[in-house]
Amino acid sequence: MATTVTLIPGDGIGPEISSSVQKIIKAADIDIIWDIQPAGSDVAQKEGSPLPQRVIESIKKNKVALKAPVTTPIGKGFRSVNVALRKELDLYANIRPCKNIKGIKTPFNGIDLVVVRENTEDLYAGIERKIDDDTAESIKIITRKASERIAKYAFEYAAANDRHTVHAVSKANICKFSDGLFLECCEKIAKNYPQIEYKEILVDNLCMQLVQNPQKFDVLVLPNLYGDIVSDLTAGLIGGLGVAQGANIGKDCAVFEPVHGSAPDIKGQNKANPTALLLCAINMLKHINETEKAQKIEKALYSVIEKGSVLTQDLGGTASTDEYTDEIIKNL
Ligand code: NAI
Repeated sequence: MATTVTLIPGDGIGPEISSSVQKIIKAADIDIIWDIQPAGSDVAQKEGSPLPQRVIESIKKNKVALKAPVTTPIGKGFRSVNVALRKELDLYANIRPCKNIKGIKTPFNGIDLVVVRENTEDLYAGIERKIDDDTAESIKIITRKASERIAKYAFEYAAANDRHTVHAVSKANICKFSDGLFLECCEKIAKNYPQIEYKEILVDNLCMQLVQNPQKFDVLVLPNLYGDIVSDLTAGLIGGLGVAQGANIGKDCAVFEPVHGSAPDIKGQNKANPTALLLCAINMLKHINETEKAQKIEKALYSVIEKGSVLTQDLGGTASTDEYTDEIIKNL
């Protein structure tokens, strides 16, 4: 029976990589009905909001979505659609695995870590104001409820995936109250998981160690903003944003979405790497119990990357998005 999945094609490179992923899923003979729900600035012009209620309703109904990136105006304009969606659906856990992919040369081998990012509060609460022309303030919100919930998710994830260590990441030496509360919650939850080692690390030290010795990290749990920044760093460790997958998980719905943004610098040039979104789609397929077919796509994707003859430019190749997509389909 066909499964209906909400698809947000996004903007920038979003529509190009969404179409690539749809083609691959179709070629793998998977019965998906795509409930296509545009969002973003073009939609705002037509419908008055970049995130109309129909998008939320579709995901609530289907319980699962694949989402390509949506541009957020920088320093002005409407608030992020991505943040609003996560808040609206209470997608409180953002899971960003980072593992070496055979065939992609990077300075490090043996990386296998997971970033678990709190997804609903922190500076992303968007509480900010201009006090006068020369002064502005943003308020960082950290609550016990959200911190305990994300810590529990990180430990449950570690336990279910045979992982051994959870590092709680903070800047609690400076943000003593907010990050202090985050750490207090992580420490409390850690006590329920004696089989998993619990460690704490400051975010600046973490960044230094990640670019020196990333293999020593397993599961990282972080407040929203540090999670955002650190997961771009970890993407860089395994080949860049073109291959970095992610998932936003809530109690009722899951939205699978890559780490990268809408890459306006390469928009419309048939250059974008669809791998990150494809890896998200593979996870989404596993989530809806299409595991066998998901593995078939996974195998084809990894074999194309390992062979290395047809790769997009971000991975050192010369192939276009279309050529790379066709090569994956050939390998199915
Ligand atoms: P970005 O992730 O879009 O791009 C950073 C760099 O990585 C660019 O050089 C880009 O060409 C490259 N890149 C990213 N994805 C790629 C891919 N699939 N294949 C090949 N190269 C790729 O970050 P940037 O430029 O900071 O943000 C652009 C816009 O995206 C902003 O409006 C930002 O708010 C938005 N954004 C949206 C996200 C989402 O929808 N979840 C997440 C992050 C940013």
